[in-house]
Amino acid sequence: MSPVRLHINVDHVATVRQARREAFPDPVSWALACEAAGADGITCHLRFDRRHIQDEDVRRLREAVTTPLNLELALTPEMVGIALESGAELFCLVPESREELTTEGGLNVRAELERVREVSAALSARGGVVSAFVDPDEGALEASAEAGCAFVELHTGTYANASPEETERELERLHTACERAHALGLGVNAGHGLTLENVAAVARLPHVQELNIGYAIVARALTVGVDAAVREMKAAIEEAKA
Ligand code: PXP
Repeated sequence: MSPVRLHINVDHVATVRQARREAFPDPVSWALACEAAGADGITCHLRFDRRHIQDEDVRRLREAVTTPLNLELALTPEMVGIALESGAELFCLVPESREELTTEGGLNVRAELERVREVSAALSARGGVVSAFVDPDEGALEASAEAGCAFVELHTGTYANASPEETERELERLHTACERAHALGLGVNAGHGLTLENVAAVARLPHVQELNIGYAIVARALTVGVDAAVREMKAAIEEAKA
């Protein structure tokens, strides 16, 4: 079985920094510590309100990070313009509303089909690999393939928040979506709400290539340090696949 890559989202290191408008903690040096501990890629999300990652962070991450850099972006002209100039290798198209605490659901690719097609083509023309962050629904997968996305990132938040009685059903939805996405020729990533406790079942899903995990690793690093937090998560993913 091919290994599942761990991409670490550094947004919430910047959340702590922005809470005091200080220069620390620095998401860029934290990203480098993640890489040193075995992260396979680094992810960040530049939001409209700049609540965590700043434009300058994207530029500095691009300069410093040596693993693939994944930029999450909404479909607005501003964000697409920044993404096109960012030099990131990977792009994940996400929905964004100002009120949400975090990305709350998948992108409605069917409703935004033409825009997703246009943005995906523009980013791909720059050599980027584009994914759409979608709920594990057949319609969203089909629309992502129609729009020319290379990958989908399956939203695992509903699985992560499910009650014990609903967990199996949510995993089954993710399983079906993985098979369907693969059949449509899409690569499969997954993320949101993943923790040391719930990651194994997602890592074992068929065709999953990459997991994007942020909050749980940042939070865990407060207790055990970044090196141990990353190594623990890598080990949990590797054991699940073994
Ligand atoms: N994937 C996407 C598209 C996201 O928007 C986020 C949250 O920024 C994540 C993964 C990571 O989620 P979490 O921080 O809950 O691990």
